[in-house]
Amino acid sequence: MVYILDTQPTETLSLAEYVEYVENNVDPADIDSLEEHAWALRALANNRTFVLDEYHNELKACWSGVSVNENSPQSIVLARTRDFLIRSNIWVPVPESSVHTDFERSYFAYDLAHDHNFSFVSVGYFGPGYETDLFEYDYATVQGYEGEPVDLVECGRHQLKPGRVMVYRSGKDVHIQFPPDQVSVSLNLMCRSEDTRTAQQYIFDVQNKTISRGAGDIASTRLFLIDIFRTLHDDNTVDLLYQTVCHHRCTRTQAFALNVLGEIRPAELEKFLSSAKSDALKLSTLPLVYGSGGRDYSGA
Ligand SMILES: [Fe+2]
Repeated sequence: MVYILDTQPTETLSLAEYVEYVENNVDPADIDSLEEHAWALRALANNRTFVLDEYHNELKACWSGVSVNENSPQSIVLARTRDFLIRSNIWVPVPESSVHTDFERSYFAYDLAHDHNFSFVSVGYFGPGYETDLFEYDYATVQGYEGEPVDLVECGRHQLKPGRVMVYRSGKDVHIQFPPDQVSVSLNLMCRSEDTRTAQQYIFDVQNKTISRGAGDIASTRLFLIDIFRTLHDDNTVDLLYQTVCHHRCTRTQAFALNVLGEIRPAELEKFLSSAKSDALKLSTLPLVYGSGGRDYSGA
């Protein structure tokens, strides 16, 4: 399950020192390395001034028209390297009576069981922190279709309280976040790996232990586009989809393209089927899920 570390290092790191430490010590592809050096994010959280300074800078950047934030206002990037993002995330309470309740719950991905296609470390920085129900599963064991049974294991409810460090594994840890009682801020170290570029993220029905739909990710972006070709297409589209079936490196993308081709060119179905690889053929008959938008469900 999620690795939880309640440590209280006396050391305080500046953002630059933390970036240097991570670059020199953490292997983004090795979860053991991430856990071993997770304490350093707590040492960064001992620095009690730099986050507010970053929010001040963010506001100034808005004044000048120079946007430094490629994500939602909820999440700002504090530092970026080839292998890592270091971010600050704001979590707000959701009053039951608010007219914005549904929007806010959706915007902050509250009450939504989801996994991540990246490993990351989180630390509670400000406020009481959100509570989260934890589960685990194995991405490698599922095919990713709507209603697919998943061996979800419950791992209890925990709180990202101030100073607590939590390490989430890509394609393994699933969680549901609940709105905190008061505005809270967390910091996270997000690993940028091949998983982030290729693996999907799922939304789960934890009562029935099934995949209910996809979440936003890079793979979903191309599946969304291919799905649109069901209604918007010409001969070039057919040729492109056929090339996708034959040559794309992602089996799910091959399968999705095959499914769409069968729908828009049923007369040529035999040709498409005979060109497809066996794994893609099997997947093409399933209602594969994908998400939409750029939401990364960082949950940090
Ligand atoms: Fe999350």
